[in-house]
Amino acid sequence: MASKNLLVVLAIVAVALPSVAMAAEIWVGGDKGWTIDFDYQTWAKEKVFNVGDTLVFNYTQGHHNVIKATKIAFDSCIKPPQN
Ligand SMILES: *[C@@H]1O[C@H](CO)[C@@H](O)[C@H](O)[C@H]1NC(C)=O
Repeated sequence: MASKNLLVVLAIVAVALPSVAMAAEIWVGGDKGWTIDFDYQTWAKEKVFNVGDTLVFNYTQGHHNVIKATKIAFDSCIKPPQN
């Protein structure tokens, strides 16, 4: 596990569901994790995300990454500065 980096990102997903829903830990991509050649749109289509859920991005450090971006930065494909 030493070469693996697990990044936990709190999901702030505006889904209009009752706030009584339990917060869930969701592993993005399931068994495939966060990688290339995987259809995340199809994967996400079957999922229900709620405010307070935790998304876990499991990926090989150095091969992939997860960066928090604004919508404008994402749409413009501009990588925000890292802290
Ligand atoms: C995380 O990903 C690695 C492959 O990169 C895999 O071997 C491992 O089982 C994954 N962990 C979980 C909990 O899915």
